[in-house]
Amino acid sequence: MAKILAIESSCDETAASVINNGVLLSNIVSTQIDVHRKYGGVMPEIASRLHAENISIVIKEAMEEAKISFEELDAVAVTRGPGLIGALHVGLQAAKTISMLYNIPLIPVHHLAGHIYANEYVSEFKFPMLAVVVSGGNTELVLMKDHMDFEIIAETVDDAIGECYDKVARVLGLPYPGGIPIDKLAKEGKHSYDLPTPLKGAKTLNLSYSGLKTNVINLVHNLEQKGEKVNVADMCKSFQDVAVGLVIDRTIKAVKEYKVNQVILAGGVSANSYLREEMTKEMNKLNVEIKIPPIWCCTDNAAMIAKVATRLYDLKVFAPLDLGVDPNWKIDEWNKF
Ligand code: KG4
Repeated sequence: MAKILAIESSCDETAASVINNGVLLSNIVSTQIDVHRKYGGVMPEIASRLHAENISIVIKEAMEEAKISFEELDAVAVTRGPGLIGALHVGLQAAKTISMLYNIPLIPVHHLAGHIYANEYVSEFKFPMLAVVVSGGNTELVLMKDHMDFEIIAETVDDAIGECYDKVARVLGLPYPGGIPIDKLAKEGKHSYDLPTPLKGAKTLNLSYSGLKTNVINLVHNLEQKGEKVNVADMCKSFQDVAVGLVIDRTIKAVKEYKVNQVILAGGVSANSYLREEMTKEMNKLNVEIKIPPIWCCTDNAAMIAKVATRLYDLKVFAPLDLGVDPNWKIDEWNKF
Protein backbone atom coordinates (compact mmCIF):
# COMPACT_ATOMS: atom_id res chain seq x y z
CA MET A 1 0.00 0.00 0.00
CA ALA A 2 1.28 3.41 -0.89
CA LYS A 3 0.60 7.01 -1.84
CA ILE A 4 0.23 7.07 -5.62
CA LEU A 5 -0.55 9.77 -8.18
CA ALA A 6 -2.42 8.27 -11.16
CA ILE A 7 -2.81 9.88 -14.58
CA GLU A 8 -5.28 9.04 -17.38
CA SER A 9 -5.27 10.60 -20.87
CA SER A 10 -6.20 7.78 -23.27
CA CYS A 11 -9.10 9.46 -25.08
CA ASP A 12 -10.97 12.70 -24.38
CA GLU A 13 -10.67 13.04 -20.60
CA THR A 14 -7.55 14.44 -18.91
CA ALA A 15 -7.60 13.05 -15.38
CA ALA A 16 -5.48 12.74 -12.25
CA SER A 17 -6.09 11.11 -8.88
CA VAL A 18 -4.25 10.52 -5.66
CA ILE A 19 -4.79 7.34 -3.64
CA ASN A 20 -3.38 6.53 -0.21
CA ASN A 21 -3.44 2.93 1.00
CA GLY A 22 -6.40 2.25 -1.31
CA VAL A 23 -8.32 5.32 -0.09
CA LEU A 24 -9.10 7.86 -2.79
CA LEU A 25 -7.91 11.35 -1.82
CA SER A 26 -8.73 13.18 -5.06
CA ASN A 27 -10.29 12.55 -8.46
CA ILE A 28 -10.01 15.38 -11.00
CA VAL A 29 -11.42 14.95 -14.52
CA SER A 30 -11.25 17.58 -17.25
CA THR A 31 -13.44 16.48 -20.13
CA GLN A 32 -13.01 17.63 -23.74
CA ILE A 33 -16.52 16.55 -24.76
CA ASP A 34 -17.74 20.09 -25.54
CA VAL A 35 -14.90 20.60 -28.03
CA HIS A 36 -15.28 17.23 -29.80
CA ARG A 37 -19.08 17.60 -29.93
CA LYS A 38 -18.66 20.14 -32.77
CA TYR A 39 -17.10 17.38 -34.90
CA GLY A 40 -19.54 14.62 -33.89
CA GLY A 41 -16.72 12.51 -32.43
CA VAL A 42 -13.22 12.61 -30.95
CA MET A 43 -10.64 14.35 -33.16
CA PRO A 44 -7.34 12.68 -32.14
CA GLU A 45 -5.02 15.63 -32.87
CA ILE A 46 -7.25 18.05 -30.97
CA ALA A 47 -7.47 15.56 -28.09
CA SER A 48 -3.65 15.43 -27.83
CA ARG A 49 -3.34 19.23 -27.88
CA LEU A 50 -5.97 19.66 -25.17
CA HIS A 51 -4.32 17.00 -23.00
CA ALA A 52 -1.01 18.87 -23.38
CA GLU A 53 -2.71 22.13 -22.32
CA ASN A 54 -4.56 20.63 -19.35
CA ILE A 55 -2.38 17.91 -17.91
CA SER A 56 -0.31 20.08 -15.52
CA ILE A 57 -3.41 21.88 -14.25
CA VAL A 58 -5.26 18.62 -13.58
CA ILE A 59 -2.25 17.07 -11.80
CA LYS A 60 -1.75 20.21 -9.68
CA GLU A 61 -5.43 20.20 -8.68
CA ALA A 62 -5.37 16.49 -7.79
CA MET A 63 -2.29 17.01 -5.58
CA GLU A 64 -3.80 20.11 -3.91
CA GLU A 65 -7.10 18.39 -3.21
CA ALA A 66 -5.27 15.37 -1.75
CA LYS A 67 -3.21 17.78 0.41
CA ILE A 68 0.06 15.97 -0.18
CA SER A 69 3.35 17.06 -1.73
CA PHE A 70 5.18 15.41 -4.63
CA GLU A 71 7.97 14.47 -2.19
CA GLU A 72 5.49 12.33 -0.23
CA LEU A 73 4.51 10.20 -3.26
CA ASP A 74 5.65 6.57 -3.36
CA ALA A 75 4.90 6.09 -7.08
CA VAL A 76 3.31 7.60 -10.17
CA ALA A 77 0.96 5.53 -12.36
CA VAL A 78 -0.25 6.16 -15.88
CA THR A 79 -2.52 4.63 -18.53
CA ARG A 80 -0.17 3.09 -21.13
CA GLY A 81 -2.92 1.80 -23.44
CA PRO A 82 -5.17 1.07 -25.17
CA GLY A 83 -6.23 4.45 -26.51
CA LEU A 84 -5.27 7.21 -28.93
CA ILE A 85 -1.50 7.24 -29.47
CA GLY A 86 -0.93 11.00 -29.15
CA ALA A 87 -3.29 11.29 -26.19
CA LEU A 88 -1.57 8.43 -24.33
CA HIS A 89 1.84 10.03 -24.94
CA VAL A 90 0.88 13.21 -23.09
CA GLY A 91 0.01 11.29 -19.91
CA LEU A 92 3.07 9.06 -20.19
CA GLN A 93 5.50 12.00 -20.62
CA ALA A 94 4.00 13.74 -17.57
CA ALA A 95 4.29 10.55 -15.50
CA LYS A 96 7.88 9.92 -16.63
CA THR A 97 8.85 13.50 -15.71
CA ILE A 98 7.42 13.10 -12.19
CA SER A 99 9.04 9.67 -11.82
CA MET A 100 12.43 11.08 -12.79
CA LEU A 101 12.18 14.33 -10.79
CA TYR A 102 11.10 12.66 -7.53
CA ASN A 103 12.93 9.37 -8.09
CA ILE A 104 9.80 7.24 -7.65
CA PRO A 105 8.68 4.13 -9.59
CA LEU A 106 6.62 4.45 -12.76
CA ILE A 107 3.59 2.10 -12.88
CA PRO A 108 2.08 1.28 -16.31
CA VAL A 109 -1.67 0.59 -16.10
CA HIS A 110 -3.98 -1.03 -18.64
CA HIS A 111 -6.99 1.21 -19.29
CA LEU A 112 -9.55 -1.62 -19.31
CA ALA A 113 -8.14 -3.11 -16.12
CA GLY A 114 -8.90 0.35 -14.75
CA HIS A 115 -12.52 0.20 -15.91
CA ILE A 116 -12.89 -3.24 -14.29
CA TYR A 117 -11.22 -2.22 -11.01
CA ALA A 118 -13.36 0.94 -10.76
CA ASN A 119 -15.92 -1.50 -9.37
CA GLU A 120 -13.67 -2.17 -6.38
CA TYR A 121 -14.67 1.23 -5.00
CA VAL A 122 -18.16 -0.17 -4.44
CA SER A 123 -17.89 -3.95 -4.12
CA GLU A 124 -15.54 -6.85 -3.54
CA PHE A 125 -14.75 -9.19 -6.40
CA LYS A 126 -15.90 -12.81 -6.20
CA PHE A 127 -14.11 -15.23 -8.50
CA PRO A 128 -14.58 -16.65 -11.03
CA MET A 129 -15.93 -13.34 -12.25
CA LEU A 130 -17.04 -12.13 -15.66
CA ALA A 131 -16.25 -8.51 -16.51
CA VAL A 132 -18.47 -7.16 -19.28
CA VAL A 133 -16.36 -4.35 -20.72
CA VAL A 134 -18.43 -2.01 -22.88
CA SER A 135 -16.78 1.28 -23.79
CA GLY A 136 -16.22 3.72 -26.61
CA GLY A 137 -13.15 1.90 -27.89
CA ASN A 138 -13.57 -1.67 -26.64
CA THR A 139 -16.17 -4.39 -26.17
CA GLU A 140 -15.07 -7.62 -24.55
CA LEU A 141 -16.00 -10.31 -22.06
CA VAL A 142 -13.14 -10.90 -19.66
CA LEU A 143 -13.01 -13.93 -17.37
CA MET A 144 -11.16 -13.39 -14.08
CA LYS A 145 -10.28 -16.34 -11.86
CA ASP A 146 -8.20 -14.16 -9.53
CA HIS A 147 -7.00 -10.57 -9.15
CA MET A 148 -5.11 -9.30 -12.21
CA ASP A 149 -5.82 -12.56 -14.03
CA PHE A 150 -7.59 -11.64 -17.26
CA GLU A 151 -8.74 -14.01 -20.01
CA ILE A 152 -10.54 -12.49 -23.00
CA ILE A 153 -13.25 -15.05 -23.79
CA ALA A 154 -15.08 -12.88 -26.34
CA GLU A 155 -14.66 -9.55 -28.09
CA THR A 156 -16.10 -7.50 -30.88
CA VAL A 157 -14.92 -8.60 -34.30
CA ASP A 158 -15.21 -5.02 -35.58
CA ASP A 159 -16.53 -1.82 -33.91
CA ALA A 160 -16.96 -1.21 -30.18
CA ILE A 161 -20.51 -0.80 -28.86
CA GLY A 162 -19.88 2.81 -27.71
CA GLU A 163 -18.46 3.73 -31.13
CA CYS A 164 -21.65 2.27 -32.67
CA TYR A 165 -23.86 4.35 -30.33
CA ASP A 166 -21.88 7.47 -31.27
CA LYS A 167 -22.13 6.84 -35.05
CA VAL A 168 -25.84 5.99 -34.94
CA ALA A 169 -26.44 9.16 -32.91
CA ARG A 170 -24.60 11.21 -35.53
CA VAL A 171 -26.78 9.92 -38.39
CA LEU A 172 -29.87 10.69 -36.29
CA GLY A 173 -28.63 14.25 -35.69
CA LEU A 174 -28.03 13.69 -31.96
CA PRO A 175 -25.07 15.18 -30.08
CA TYR A 176 -21.80 13.45 -29.14
CA PRO A 177 -21.38 11.30 -27.06
CA GLY A 178 -24.33 9.52 -28.61
CA GLY A 179 -24.96 6.97 -25.88
CA ILE A 180 -26.56 9.53 -23.59
CA PRO A 181 -29.26 10.97 -25.94
CA ILE A 182 -30.03 7.52 -27.40
CA ASP A 183 -30.50 6.08 -23.90
CA LYS A 184 -32.86 8.97 -23.06
CA LEU A 185 -34.88 8.96 -26.31
CA ALA A 186 -35.23 5.16 -26.36
CA LYS A 187 -37.38 5.48 -23.23
CA GLU A 188 -39.94 7.46 -25.26
CA GLY A 189 -39.86 5.21 -28.36
CA LYS A 190 -41.30 1.89 -29.57
CA HIS A 191 -39.36 -0.94 -31.21
CA SER A 192 -40.91 -0.31 -34.64
CA TYR A 193 -37.90 -0.63 -36.98
CA ASP A 194 -36.65 -4.05 -37.96
CA LEU A 195 -32.88 -4.29 -37.44
CA PRO A 196 -31.21 -7.69 -37.82
CA THR A 197 -29.32 -9.13 -34.84
CA PRO A 198 -25.59 -9.29 -35.62
CA LEU A 199 -23.99 -12.77 -35.86
CA LYS A 200 -27.41 -14.37 -35.41
CA GLY A 201 -27.19 -18.15 -35.10
CA ALA A 202 -23.36 -18.09 -35.14
CA LYS A 203 -21.73 -20.41 -32.59
CA THR A 204 -19.56 -17.75 -31.02
CA LEU A 205 -19.44 -15.59 -27.94
CA ASN A 206 -17.93 -12.79 -30.03
CA LEU A 207 -19.88 -9.64 -30.79
CA SER A 208 -20.20 -7.38 -33.83
CA TYR A 209 -21.42 -3.80 -34.18
CA SER A 210 -20.32 -2.64 -37.61
CA GLY A 211 -23.25 -4.28 -39.46
CA LEU A 212 -25.79 -2.88 -37.00
CA LYS A 213 -24.41 0.64 -37.51
CA THR A 214 -24.57 0.23 -41.32
CA ASN A 215 -28.13 -1.14 -41.10
CA VAL A 216 -29.29 1.93 -39.18
CA ILE A 217 -27.48 4.30 -41.58
CA ASN A 218 -28.99 2.57 -44.65
CA LEU A 219 -32.46 2.49 -43.15
CA VAL A 220 -32.33 6.21 -42.29
CA HIS A 221 -31.07 7.10 -45.80
CA ASN A 222 -33.74 4.93 -47.49
CA LEU A 223 -36.51 6.55 -45.45
CA GLU A 224 -35.15 10.02 -46.23
CA GLN A 225 -34.94 9.21 -49.97
CA LYS A 226 -38.61 8.15 -49.90
CA GLY A 227 -39.41 11.44 -48.20
CA GLU A 228 -40.51 9.66 -45.02
CA LYS A 229 -39.71 11.14 -41.64
CA VAL A 230 -37.56 9.02 -39.33
CA ASN A 231 -39.11 8.59 -35.90
CA VAL A 232 -35.94 9.23 -33.93
CA ALA A 233 -37.22 7.91 -30.59
CA ASP A 234 -38.43 4.67 -32.25
CA MET A 235 -35.10 4.28 -34.07
CA CYS A 236 -33.24 4.78 -30.78
CA LYS A 237 -35.39 2.14 -29.08
CA SER A 238 -35.10 -0.34 -32.00
CA PHE A 239 -31.31 0.15 -32.16
CA GLN A 240 -30.77 -0.03 -28.41
CA ASP A 241 -32.78 -3.24 -28.06
CA VAL A 242 -30.49 -4.95 -30.59
CA ALA A 243 -27.22 -3.38 -29.36
CA VAL A 244 -27.83 -4.14 -25.68
CA GLY A 245 -29.61 -7.42 -26.48
CA LEU A 246 -26.39 -8.73 -28.02
CA VAL A 247 -24.36 -7.96 -24.88
CA ILE A 248 -27.01 -9.60 -22.68
CA ASP A 249 -27.19 -12.70 -24.91
CA ARG A 250 -23.39 -13.18 -24.85
CA THR A 251 -23.22 -12.59 -21.09
CA ILE A 252 -25.91 -15.21 -20.37
CA LYS A 253 -24.09 -17.75 -22.56
CA ALA A 254 -20.71 -16.97 -20.97
CA VAL A 255 -22.09 -17.17 -17.43
CA LYS A 256 -23.50 -20.64 -18.16
CA GLU A 257 -20.39 -21.87 -19.97
CA TYR A 258 -17.83 -20.59 -17.46
CA LYS A 259 -19.96 -20.99 -14.29
CA VAL A 260 -19.08 -17.58 -12.89
CA ASN A 261 -20.05 -16.34 -9.41
CA GLN A 262 -20.29 -12.67 -10.25
CA VAL A 263 -20.78 -10.41 -13.25
CA ILE A 264 -19.57 -6.82 -13.28
CA LEU A 265 -20.18 -4.11 -15.84
CA ALA A 266 -17.32 -1.80 -16.83
CA GLY A 267 -16.71 1.09 -19.24
CA GLY A 268 -18.66 4.11 -20.49
CA VAL A 269 -21.60 2.17 -21.94
CA SER A 270 -22.25 0.60 -18.52
CA ALA A 271 -23.90 3.95 -17.75
CA ASN A 272 -26.72 2.83 -20.08
CA SER A 273 -29.95 2.55 -18.10
CA TYR A 274 -31.47 -0.19 -20.27
CA LEU A 275 -28.29 -2.33 -20.08
CA ARG A 276 -28.20 -1.89 -16.29
CA GLU A 277 -31.87 -2.90 -15.91
CA GLU A 278 -31.83 -5.83 -18.32
CA MET A 279 -28.53 -7.22 -17.05
CA THR A 280 -29.80 -7.08 -13.46
CA LYS A 281 -33.04 -8.85 -14.47
CA GLU A 282 -31.28 -11.59 -16.43
CA MET A 283 -28.56 -12.23 -13.84
CA ASN A 284 -31.18 -12.41 -11.07
CA LYS A 285 -32.97 -15.08 -13.11
CA LEU A 286 -29.69 -17.03 -13.28
CA ASN A 287 -28.98 -16.43 -9.57
CA VAL A 288 -25.66 -14.78 -10.39
CA GLU A 289 -24.54 -11.72 -8.46
CA ILE A 290 -24.40 -8.60 -10.63
CA LYS A 291 -22.39 -5.50 -9.75
CA ILE A 292 -22.92 -2.23 -11.55
CA PRO A 293 -20.52 0.69 -11.12
CA PRO A 294 -21.91 4.06 -10.00
CA ILE A 295 -22.15 6.54 -12.89
CA TRP A 296 -19.12 8.56 -11.62
CA CYS A 297 -16.74 5.69 -12.34
CA CYS A 298 -18.28 4.38 -15.60
CA THR A 299 -16.61 6.92 -17.90
CA ASP A 300 -12.87 7.62 -18.04
CA ASN A 301 -11.21 8.82 -14.83
CA ALA A 302 -7.90 8.38 -13.00
CA ALA A 303 -9.42 6.96 -9.78
CA MET A 304 -9.80 3.63 -11.59
CA ILE A 305 -6.16 3.79 -12.72
CA ALA A 306 -5.13 4.52 -9.12
CA LYS A 307 -7.02 1.44 -7.91
CA VAL A 308 -5.09 -0.88 -10.26
CA ALA A 309 -1.85 0.97 -9.49
CA THR A 310 -2.21 0.15 -5.79
CA ARG A 311 -2.21 -3.56 -6.65
CA LEU A 312 0.68 -3.18 -9.08
CA TYR A 313 2.72 -1.30 -6.47
CA ASP A 314 2.34 -4.24 -4.09
CA LEU A 315 3.35 -6.60 -6.92
CA LYS A 316 6.29 -4.30 -7.73
CA VAL A 317 5.22 -3.93 -11.36
CA PHE A 318 7.38 -0.95 -12.31
CA ALA A 319 8.45 0.20 -15.78
CA PRO A 320 11.75 1.64 -16.98
CA LEU A 321 11.84 5.27 -18.12
CA ASP A 322 12.14 4.27 -21.79
CA LEU A 323 8.58 2.86 -21.62
CA GLY A 324 6.42 3.55 -24.68
CA VAL A 325 2.63 3.68 -25.06
CA ASP A 326 0.66 0.84 -26.71
CA PRO A 327 -2.57 1.99 -28.40
CA ASN A 328 -3.59 -1.68 -28.93
CA TRP A 329 -2.43 -3.18 -25.63
CA LYS A 330 -4.37 -6.37 -24.80
CA ILE A 331 -5.60 -6.80 -21.24
CA ASP A 332 -4.19 -10.33 -20.95
CA GLU A 333 -0.74 -8.84 -21.65
CA TRP A 334 -1.00 -6.17 -18.93
CA ASN A 335 2.37 -7.22 -17.45
CA LYS A 336 4.19 -7.17 -20.82
CA PHE A 337 5.62 -3.77 -21.70
O1 KG4 B 1 -15.36 4.31 -21.30
P1 KG4 B 1 -15.53 5.58 -22.05
O2 KG4 B 1 -15.60 6.86 -21.28
O3 KG4 B 1 -14.39 5.76 -23.09
C1 KG4 B 1 -13.57 4.75 -23.51
O4 KG4 B 1 -12.70 4.33 -22.70
O5 KG4 B 1 -13.78 4.28 -24.64
O6 KG4 B 1 -16.83 5.38 -22.94
C2 KG4 B 1 -17.37 6.38 -23.76
C3 KG4 B 1 -18.55 5.78 -24.48
C4 KG4 B 1 -19.09 6.68 -25.59
O7 KG4 B 1 -19.16 5.93 -26.77
C5 KG4 B 1 -20.49 7.06 -25.08
O8 KG4 B 1 -21.45 7.24 -26.11
C6 KG4 B 1 -20.85 5.86 -24.23
O9 KG4 B 1 -19.63 5.55 -23.56
N1 KG4 B 1 -21.91 6.16 -23.25
C7 KG4 B 1 -23.10 5.56 -23.27
C8 KG4 B 1 -23.87 6.14 -22.23
N2 KG4 B 1 -23.10 7.07 -21.61
C9 KG4 B 1 -21.88 7.07 -22.24
N3 KG4 B 1 -23.60 4.60 -24.07
C10 KG4 B 1 -24.86 4.20 -23.87
N4 KG4 B 1 -25.66 4.72 -22.90
C11 KG4 B 1 -25.21 5.67 -22.06
N5 KG4 B 1 -26.01 6.18 -21.12
